[in-house]
Amino acid sequence: MSVPSGRSPDEVVLVTPRLVMRPLTRDYLADLVDLYADPGVTRFLKPLDEAGHLRRCLEAEEMWASRGYGRVALHNVASGRFVGRGGLQYWPRFEEVEVTWALRRDAWGQGLATEAGGSWVRWGLEHLDVPYITAMIAPENTGSCAVAERLGMAVLRADTQHGREVLVYARFRAQSPDGGPG
Ligand SMILES: CC(C)(COP(=O)(O)OP(=O)(O)OC[C@H]1O[C@@H](n2cnc3c(N)ncnc32)[C@H](O)[C@@H]1OP(=O)(O)O)[C@@H](O)C(=O)NCCC(=O)NCCS
Repeated sequence: MSVPSGRSPDEVVLVTPRLVMRPLTRDYLADLVDLYADPGVTRFLKPLDEAGHLRRCLEAEEMWASRGYGRVALHNVASGRFVGRGGLQYWPRFEEVEVTWALRRDAWGQGLATEAGGSWVRWGLEHLDVPYITAMIAPENTGSCAVAERLGMAVLRADTQHGREVLVYARFRAQSPDGGPG
């Protein structure tokens, strides 16, 4: 795994065995609209129309510029194809950094969310001044909860996000073998 080396929007910021990741910019608008066109993908996500996706992209650009990390586009390393989005997101309301994942349905069941998410949890805990990285997940989203658990994350609290109940999973910097803060 390589670490983020630069901040320019079209630059590769992280590479894992099967994924190449680039900062999410407005250039990904059509890919995101297409990703969200699948109701299986959006079942537990905040609904977004094209204007909402554009706002998110602009926020991601701003986050990369101001904080040096943010959401990313995930590409298959061999084909270059867009397979989803991931990366880190700072939430001022919680004063926490969250790792995110959403894959095109044809990319499910291959361990790619765990691969991408794990790389950002490791990067965040290594480079950011935070005690832990979160993942905010609807309790019914069992596939996403399983990703968090595979990454050694445990439920920190129940909360609300975008008006919905979520479980806030966390992976601490120094974690004891039972998964709690070390
Ligand atoms: C949540 C989401 C990313 C999970 O995707 P996923 O494919 O189940 O998760 P992973 O990529 O980690 O893959 C794990 C699966 O791949 C399998 N797998 C196959 N090859 C593998 C490999 N080489 N390495 C690891 N796992 C592999 C695992 O056994 C596991 O299968 P299982 O679910 O039958 O146990 C996906 O369902 C999604 O994008 N949902 C819509 C968006 C969403 O809800 N995002 C989360 C918001 S909180």
